[in-house]
Amino acid sequence: MKKVISVVGARPNFMKVAPLHRAFQKYNDQVQHLICHTGQHYDVNMSKVFFEELELPKPDFYLGVGSGSHAEQTAKIMIEFEKVLLKEKPNLVIVVGDVNSTVACSLVAVKLGIKVAHVEAGLRSFDRTMPEEINRLLTDSIADYLFITEVSGVQNLSNEGIDEGKVFFVGNCMIDSLINYLPKIDRSKILTEMSLASREYIVVTLHRPSNVDDPSNIKEIFSQFSSLAENYKIVFPIHPRTRKNLEHAGLTDIHKNILLIDPIGYIDFVNLVKNSALVLTDSGGIQEETTYLKIPCLTLRDNTERPITTTLGTNKLIGTNYNKIYDEAHSRLNKKQTDSSIPPLWDGKAGERIAEILVKNLN
Ligand code: UD1
Repeated sequence: MKKVISVVGARPNFMKVAPLHRAFQKYNDQVQHLICHTGQHYDVNMSKVFFEELELPKPDFYLGVGSGSHAEQTAKIMIEFEKVLLKEKPNLVIVVGDVNSTVACSLVAVKLGIKVAHVEAGLRSFDRTMPEEINRLLTDSIADYLFITEVSGVQNLSNEGIDEGKVFFVGNCMIDSLINYLPKIDRSKILTEMSLASREYIVVTLHRPSNVDDPSNIKEIFSQFSSLAENYKIVFPIHPRTRKNLEHAGLTDIHKNILLIDPIGYIDFVNLVKNSALVLTDSGGIQEETTYLKIPCLTLRDNTERPITTTLGTNKLIGTNYNKIYDEAHSRLNKKQTDSSIPPLWDGKAGERIAEILVKNLN
């Protein structure tokens, strides 16, 4: 029996590991698939609720590292994960995405001579001030299997001189979860609970340090949102980092149509997105989910590591010149539905492809 440990740490990791866990069940006579949660995200609504909704089993290992500076968090994960690997001696470690848990666990595994698979490899924003870009570059440079979600990833890895024999274009595990849970998503009662009407509200998510850590940025963003809120309700499930910074910036007088709510679970969140008129975000994954759902998305960043969402999908980068938010949102809301398409291999089967390749290679 071979042993594989998949690592999750932060919120966007959970929906990527769920389809892998499902796919490995098909091979449970050959492979034992275990889950290690580093505890990078630990609030109930940033973590536990996702395990329940995505039908993930309780993690086999919980490292409980919590928050801290990048160095502290990464170092704590490494120390704790090394203990797990020394005891369990898995044949393979799977890491997903670009969070601190991803790079920390990859580094520990390769140094112990354990093979590493990186799911969602090859994405590049070419902005090295983003912590995620550093995590992606380092993880990809040491991983043994690189699983790609969009064609740009293949080119990026080739430009970096990575052996093409390690690279597999398999599609998008986050979209696997979306497709798998669509029936449940459609049954969510969140619109009724929040008294919202379909296509009559905007969904906002913001958590990037570059957007929310500076009080003057956050004030300018909220002043634009207040103008938008004259005509549209704005639903803003607020990340703990953003909530803290909002309090820091002393912003208390929020427009009544801006509905600041605590982070919500996956099923309700995707239902909110699916019924919205527009999404404004700085998240990576939401650029992909809106593309799949064909919901217009404006991304408050100067770059994206997911360019396919702007070329084939519904995403537009509007940069960080915040005084354009109102105009960009209005022109997008007034625009007729433009053509967009779903990127290749975003078909709900990425997890199965990955498991098949890995199981074949483990033997
Ligand atoms: C992390 C990822 C980011 C991802 C995001 C999704 C890195 C470098 N960043 O950013 O790529 O898009 O997750 O949310 O890994 N906090 C809580 N409760 C929690 C988790 C965090 O209160 O359960 C607060 C803490 O004050 C913490 C802060 O949020 O210091 C930031 O958390 P952290 O894990 O450092 O990074 P994120 O901003 O969540």
